This record gives sequence, C-alpha cells and structure tokens, in this order.
Amino acid sequence: MRIGILGGTFDPIHRAHMAVALGVKREFALDKVLLMVAALPPHKTAEKTRAKLRFMMAKEAALGIDGIEACDMELKREGKSYTVDTLRQLSDIYAGAELFFVVGADMLKDFMSWYMPGEILKFASLIGVERGGEDEAAPFAAQIMGQLGGNVYISKQDEIALSSTDIRRRVFEAKPLLGDVAKGVGCLIYEHGLYMPEQILNIIRRLSRELSPERFKHSTSCAYEAVELAGRYGVDPEKARIAALLHDCVRFDYEKQVALANKYGILIPGSHALLHAALGSLYAKHEYGIEDEEILNAIARHTTGAENMTDLDKVVYLADKIEPQRSYSGIDELRIMAYNSLNGGVLLAMQNTIDHMKRKGHKVDAETERIRRAIQNKI
Ligand SMILES: [Fe+2]
Ligand SMILES: [Fe+2]
Repeated sequence: MRIGILGGTFDPIHRAHMAVALGVKREFALDKVLLMVAALPPHKTAEKTRAKLRFMMAKEAALGIDGIEACDMELKREGKSYTVDTLRQLSDIYAGAELFFVVGADMLKDFMSWYMPGEILKFASLIGVERGGEDEAAPFAAQIMGQLGGNVYISKQDEIALSSTDIRRRVFEAKPLLGDVAKGVGCLIYEHGLYMPEQILNIIRRLSRELSPERFKHSTSCAYEAVELAGRYGVDPEKARIAALLHDCVRFDYEKQVALANKYGILIPGSHALLHAALGSLYAKHEYGIEDEEILNAIARHTTGAENMTDLDKVVYLADKIEPQRSYSGIDELRIMAYNSLNGGVLLAMQNTIDHMKRKGHKVDAETERIRRAIQNKI
C-alpha cells in the first residue's frame, strides 16, 4: 500500500488543501492520503477543543472522497510532536506500506535542520509540492538525497490563491465561502461559532442553551446558507446571518411559546407551526436586543412569506428550506433553483409546501396560496 501524509493545522481545511491531497494521490498513485492534523502548542484546554474541531473539519472535508482520510494521531500524542514520531507510528500501523510525506517545496530548503531528517527519510519518501510557476526546489531535493539518501520528489501543481486566513476573515465579515470549504465544514464553523465576531458568538451561545440540539444545528446551518444566498443576491450578509440564526429562536415546546405570546400580548394563530415566526421576531427584539426592523421582519415572515417580501426576507425564507442539514424529496431541485433565481426559488418552495399539504390531506392555508400568487404576479 502507498500512503501519503499531508500535515497541516487545517484551521480550517479548504479547497486548496484538498487539491494538494488529490493531486499527489493521483500523481504518485497513492492508495490513501492522510490529512494529518497538527497539534499546536501550548496544550491548553482551549487549544485541545480547537484541535478537536480542526480534526472534525478535516473529517468532514474528506467525507465521501475515496482514499482521503483525516488523522488525529498527532493530537493524541502528549508533548511536542515530531514528524519522525508520526512516521514511526504509521509504519507500525501500516506495516509494509510505502509512506510519502508531503510538504510545501519551500520546506525542502530547511529540511536538513528538522529533527532527525535522516530517520524521516528511512520511514518515508518526501514529496515537495511546487505551486504555480515555482521552480527552485530541485537543487534542494538533490542536496537532501546526496547527503541523507532516500527519495525526494517534486510535484508541480497549479496555484490556488486561497488560505485559511482568508477563510477566517470571510467568516468574520459574513462573506460567502462559496465552494472554498466543504458544506459540512461551513456548517461546523457556524455551529461552533468559529472565527465569528463577539456579537454573533453571543447569539450562537444563547441559541445553543435554549434550543434542542437539532433545532440549534438547523439554525446555525441556516445562517451558513443565508450568507451564501445573500452573497449571491447582493443582500446585506450580516443581516441575513443574524435573521437566519434567530429565525427559530422561540421554537421551544408549544406551551412555553403560548406563555410568551400571552406575555407579549400577541394573537395566537390556529396552526401551532405559525406562532413561532411573529413570536420569534419579538423575542429577538426583547431578548437578543435586535433593533433592526429588516432583520425582525425577516424572522416574522419566514414561515408563510409575505406579499411584500424583501430580498432579505426571501433569502432567510429559502435558507430555512435548503440549509445543508435538510433532506426531503425535491430539495435538490429547490437548491438549484434557489441559486438560479431568488423569486424562482421562493415560488418553488411555496409550491412545494402547498403540494405537500395537499398530499397529506391538510387544508391548504389560503394565505400561502394568495402570497404565492401575489409574488408570481409581481415578477
Ligand atoms: Fe421556523
Ligand atoms: Fe427553520
């Protein structure tokens, strides 16, 4: 078996990391590439939590990709982690396998000053990845082989201008992540409030205390999706993020919702499922301190929609229907439509709801039908 090892902090793992892993896998006919998540000193509790998340993200990125696996071996090791220890451990686990340790080609320059470079080369061949037009690594490779023996290869790959720093900045600023991280990674970032400003982190923390784990995950995934949609349609992404996070903020059990509705003095609609939208909007205002009317309206309109829906309303409405945790028949078509046309997406989602109610033998809410027709007539 031929196994590649690609180390990194992966904070977070993104498309360029995956391109390197897949690139060397193909070029060197590897059976497997391990995404080796690096431990970051010092080993404080906070860093341990973060390390676990970096590993979870790597696992998520590798999900469903043949021959790519995340590995937390270095995170489990106590004390300082050396490459040579990792390779020794791997050669025990995969006895008889050929190991290839993947590094950026620039690392070859300093390789001789690494801890036990000769031992490293006994356990594994090195692959130095050169990106873009770089062409400097060959002499260093020759020098290493000349002095220490072993194999040092150069892999030439296309440059992908993308960094973890860039991803972290985009999350902080509520900019879309596009396809630069896997959807599952995006959802983890939102679920754990990674790289977020304090205000958003506080909302996420409170939601996690007040909602069921499933509802909480749905809410944070909805925020991830809303930012993507907002980017697509030129809607204020921070407003979309806040509205999506809070859209189900009162989805506790129904009795508690009724008690809150009485406290706020709002009318209780006939259908149980409809109360939480208007109620959530008030709760977001009084309990989360949200004053922006556009955000509050988007929360209030997320279940039935409204005739005069703004683009922000539509983004939140759709994000709720297509966030990555959701799975139901027809969702793939809706996801495609949602990114092709905002109105088309909203209309299709409304039609799906109407069809679903008809199929189940429920009376179709006249309001939903009327709103759908009104939006249709406007476009
Ligand atoms: Fe809802
Ligand atoms: Fe929802």
